[in-house]
Amino acid sequence: MYNVREINKDTWWLGASDRRIQLFENTHPVPNGMSYNNFIIMDEKTCLLDGVDESVSRQFEENLAHVLNGRTLDYLVIDHMEPDHCAVIPDLVQRWPNLKLVGTPKTFDLIRQFHGFDPEPHAIKVKEGDTLSLGRHTLQFVLAPMVHWPEVMVTFDQLTGTLFSADAFGGFGAIGGAIFADEVDWERDWADEARRYYANIVGKYGPQVASLLKKVSKLDIKEIAPLHAHIWRRDFDQILSLYAKWAAYEPEDNSVVIYYGSIYGGTANAADILSVKLAEAGVHNVRVYDVSKTSVSELVSQAFRSPTLVFASATYNMGIFDGMRELLEDLAAHAMKNRTVGVIYNGSWAPQAGHLMLDAIQKMKGMEILDPHVHVTSVVDGSALEELDALAAAIVKKLGK
Ligand SMILES: Cc1cc2nc3c(=O)[nH]c(=O)nc-3n(C[C@H](O)[C@H](O)[C@H](O)COP(=O)(O)O)c2cc1C
Ligand SMILES: [Fe+2]
Ligand SMILES: [Fe+2]
Repeated sequence: MYNVREINKDTWWLGASDRRIQLFENTHPVPNGMSYNNFIIMDEKTCLLDGVDESVSRQFEENLAHVLNGRTLDYLVIDHMEPDHCAVIPDLVQRWPNLKLVGTPKTFDLIRQFHGFDPEPHAIKVKEGDTLSLGRHTLQFVLAPMVHWPEVMVTFDQLTGTLFSADAFGGFGAIGGAIFADEVDWERDWADEARRYYANIVGKYGPQVASLLKKVSKLDIKEIAPLHAHIWRRDFDQILSLYAKWAAYEPEDNSVVIYYGSIYGGTANAADILSVKLAEAGVHNVRVYDVSKTSVSELVSQAFRSPTLVFASATYNMGIFDGMRELLEDLAAHAMKNRTVGVIYNGSWAPQAGHLMLDAIQKMKGMEILDPHVHVTSVVDGSALEELDALAAAIVKKLGK
């Protein structure tokens, strides 16, 4: 049975959630599932804005049939040609042979690759600022290359002020009927998953996000409708101010995140001791993560939030312990920069983790590595304790406590 909601004049949400999915992109844990939004404008012409993932395609078909109510589908605007939004394109084209597909030139290359048919007879290729009239509604296209794929654009409805924002402003997690951010306690329940989504999916492309934010700031936006999670119709600053920070790799608070990779517990002990010293010195929100336990998806997200990152690792076969190596590689891959960093390393005979971590961190831009680099030999002893004291003092000084 159909399950739709009107979100604005002539405009309907046709999305659905997948609560069975375990890993989004087969890598990011989504314990609360995933939502896939898409929209339709019913004007003199009918226009669908993006498709959905295969997992919710049956629900989408019922929703579409209900809202179309026997009318023909005239346009499909493709803001983002990634499979989690485009699984339904071949079906739509088959069903409506005269359907026009609207996208950037790169969109059509990707359709050819993913779906193996020639989209040219259906293609309306748009560039920055082009418009499409549906009757009362005029759609304006704003290109957003590499947010986070090359073909991406966002679409602005000049009549309702709705910005269809593709993956930008999205989040992890299935949503229920409360599809608007003002219908939930967004800050309490959803901000963390919006951050984790941004950090992992879009986080590598801060400059491109900043450029998109600048372009859309000129539009008179009344509603922001992303392809995942909630639609915004007020308090835009809540999400926009976070995006401005994340895009600039600016931390959100004055906290410390301590990541440790430990086999037998010696390095974990050092991390915990440091956390107590920091909390005692008045640092708010000290968080400690075991990199073997917490998914790298969450670890990367925390690095976007916090200005101070401490990496603590045992040496493992002349290298950095597994989870820590993956975390450092992932942070570099997401272009993490401009953080204050502490290093704790451990080894029983050749403690290579120390200089290997320093090498990895120095490859990231604007990382200020504090002294001392704490050296633990098997377990924390008096000398390591003194170094932990000194590192805590350096962090506290840096945070201006
Ligand atoms: C499989 C394995 C490989 C290791 N390789 C090294 C090494 O190359 N160099 C070294 O100094 N210690 C090595 N160690 C020892 C640990 O790094 C060392 O005992 C450390 O104190 C463990 O810290 P933890 O208590 O936090 O696990 C290795 C340990 C294991 C289990
Ligand atoms: Fe995407
Ligand atoms: Fe997506």
